[in-house]
Order: sequence, then C-alpha cells, then structure tokens
Amino acid sequence: MHSCTCTPTNQYSELDNHNPTINFFIIIIIIVFLERKLNHLKGRLEAPPTSKILTGFCSLLVLEAFPNQKTEIRILFGLNMLPEDVVSAILSLTSPLDVCAFSLVSSTFRSAAEFDVIWERFLPSDYQQLLSRLDLPLKFSTKKELFFHLCNSVLIDGGRKSFRIEKSSGRKSYLLSARELSITWGSDPMHWSWKKMAESRFPEAVELITISWLEIHGKITTQMLSKNSKYGAYLVMNISRRAYGLDTIPSEVSVKVRDRVSNGMAYICRQDIKKLKMDSYCVQREQFPNEREDGWMEIKLGEFFTGEDDEEVKMSLMEIKGYQLKGGLVIEGIEVRPI
Ligand SMILES: *[C@@H]1O[C@H](CO)[C@@H](O)[C@H](O)[C@H]1NC(C)=O
Repeated sequence: MHSCTCTPTNQYSELDNHNPTINFFIIIIIIVFLERKLNHLKGRLEAPPTSKILTGFCSLLVLEAFPNQKTEIRILFGLNMLPEDVVSAILSLTSPLDVCAFSLVSSTFRSAAEFDVIWERFLPSDYQQLLSRLDLPLKFSTKKELFFHLCNSVLIDGGRKSFRIEKSSGRKSYLLSARELSITWGSDPMHWSWKKMAESRFPEAVELITISWLEIHGKITTQMLSKNSKYGAYLVMNISRRAYGLDTIPSEVSVKVRDRVSNGMAYICRQDIKKLKMDSYCVQREQFPNEREDGWMEIKLGEFFTGEDDEEVKMSLMEIKGYQLKGGLVIEGIEVRPI
C-alpha cells in the first residue's frame, strides 16, 4: 500500500475552516435519526447488511445537501460505520486533497483511499487520450500512482506542449511551448533565434535578437481544460544578459474568449529603481514579471472562466507602439493553469 503523498498539516488547516461544533451536532442528529430508522427497518428486513448500505446512501444524500461540510464526513468515518464500497463512493465526491486528509483519520479510509474508482474520478475524463499523446510512456500500477505522476509536468504532442494536473483538485493545466505560439517574424533568423536550451523543458525555446514589432499570440480551447474553472494565462520567459529596449514602454497583454476580454499592461523587464521611484506618485497599473519555481519568469496575460461549452481562448502580448528596437527576451511558452 502506498502512503499518501500530500502533506497532512495543510489539509487539516483547510478542513478546520469549517465550523466543527455545528457540523458535529448536525451529524449526530442525522446519525441518531438514521439509526432509529434503520433499527425500525431491520426488524422487517431479511438481509441485515442492507442497513449499513442504507446508512451510507443516506450519508451520501447528506453530503450532497451540504457539499462544503467536510467535517461531517470525518465524523461519519471516525465512527467506522460504513462499508468500504460506500466509503469510496463518498470519497469520490470529495477532492484528492480531502481523500488524503481523511485517510489519516480512519483505517476504513486508508484502504478505501487506494481504490482505483476514486482516483479514476479525480483524473481528467480524457486521461486515456492524454496518455496516448505522451512523449515518454508512464509506468504505473494503480490510478492513484498515475494521478501523482501527472501532478508533475509531462511532455506531450512531440514535445510541443507540457501537461500536468493540480494536486489539490485534479484540474488540468498546459504549457504551450514557443513552437505552439504564433510569433510575428518568428521564422526570420534576423529577428528570432530558435535553439535548444539547457533550462527549457522543451526541445527548443526562442530568443529575440532584435525587432521593433513584438507580437506573440497563443491559442487554446476550453475543451482541453477543466470545466467551470477560473484559469490564468502566463507568458513564461527570461531576460538574457544581452537584453535591451525591453523596459522602455509596457506591453499590452490580453486574453479573449469570444467577446469577453481581459487586458492590461505589463513591463517585460523590471525598470531600474530610479525610474520606479520617479513614477511612484502615479498609479502603478502595470505589472512586472514574477519569478517561478522552475527558474523562469512569468507575465500574467489575463484570466478567463471555462464554462461547459468549448470555446477558443486567444492570448497575446504586444509591444508595437514604441518603435524602438529591443532584444534579449527568451520565450519558453504560455502556461494556462487554474487559479
Ligand atoms: C535566465 O537568464 C539568466 C541570465 O540573464 C540565466 O542566468 C538564467 O539561468 C536563465 N534562466 C532560465 C530558466 O533560462
């Protein structure tokens, strides 16, 4: 049996956000009610195990009625009163993070937390199709193992994209490599240089040699992402030592889904401190690149919401108004991840 790889402390603090006293009373009342009903039924029913299953399904109804009251499940399972298959049915209504948390509270949970049915439900619905697009096949024996494999980025589509799922929720995210983007003058070696870079997860990244017209577009469809989720799009980039002209004026960033647009201004390069002090009286609307854990930097292009329908998301960064030459921007790609 594998132990859960999430960290226990965070999970508990999340669970404890619910009001335990109120939940405790709600659940005790429900349990007393259920027990009475079941004892009453038991006298008339031939097969006794039905009572446990009934309790389980009633608890399922309770959970559906109070979707955010996770403490209740903890108490129910603390009482070890449910058979394993019911437990796994209930667990699959929660999230990967909750399953790990619950498996610390009860032994019924611990075994149920390994069940393939639960983890299969947390995996993206198109995971089979994603597995067939992997550059390097993954070795796994359980769905839980596969889930945790996919929490780390994997390359797909011949190294043109990377894919991963969010550990806490199982939601999908993609990093589209520079090759998947449309970069104006991108195929002209006078302006852009494509090369293998040690720091890149992709076979190639691209560095801006010199240009006045900086224009980068990326596209993704919401069908590729998880439904009904808020996503952010980020340009993943770096600034080489030869960089120049990048901090003169901010770039326009935008994310468009049909007629819904999120846009803003962003500096690609941090301005030097003196300039920043001078501007500090003005409202600073423009954003700056942030450092990422993987050593790259990122600029937020915008946000969007994925509904139920399949829609095209257009993401872009443009600096075409300054007319000055600029260079030294290195592009890894555009990341689209749940926020
Ligand atoms: C970013 O560029 C700097 C040099 O400007 C370099 O030292 C660093 O390794 C680069 N990081 C990545 C992830 O490319």
